[in-house]
Amino acid sequence: MVACNDSTKVDKSDRLAVSKIRCGTVIDHINAGKALLVLRILGIKPGCSERVLIAMNVPSKKMGKKDIVKVEGKYISEKELDRIALISPNATINLIEEYEVSEKRRVELPPVVEGILTCPNRNCITNSREPIKSRFHVKMEGNRVKVTCHYCGKKIYEPDRYIVSR
Ligand code: CTP
Ligand code: ZN
Repeated sequence: MVACNDSTKVDKSDRLAVSKIRCGTVIDHINAGKALLVLRILGIKPGCSERVLIAMNVPSKKMGKKDIVKVEGKYISEKELDRIALISPNATINLIEEYEVSEKRRVELPPVVEGILTCPNRNCITNSREPIKSRFHVKMEGNRVKVTCHYCGKKIYEPDRYIVSR
């Protein structure tokens, strides 16, 4: 692709980056650039049949720039919410019914995640042949998510890369 001039200028057409959906889930206020990771967390892959709308790096009053993912006809599971919280702790989840927002909630960082992240420490017991599920303690440090392996103490900031695909 080739860059065009003024592509980042905000104009009126930016107010609604992608059209509204009828029923399903809107994940809003995703950290800019993380929408594709959110798709991975939701198990939306090439060849899928879901109707999905994605906006990346659109202007946001609160965040400067943000991503949005809208999935028609699907509601999100608790496990998916925990994963999204890890990569985007400010995301909001909107349930849509007949074009109206029927429920709005923030994602919440779980204090502990199990089986969601892999430990980057090769010598960690969770990477041995022992049948031990990974377990990490989760905290915010400034505006970054910090996770600490329960077994070996390894700390990871912004754990995007270590999320296990479904
Ligand atoms: N939305 C949608 N389809 C609908 C209704 C809402 O895609 N039928 C989207 C909106 O585009 C927005 C999000 O769901 O991205 C939340 O909608 P709403 O609460 O109406 O917007 P805001 O008030 O801007 O939300 P917030 O206060 O969370 O920023
Ligand atoms: Zn470990």
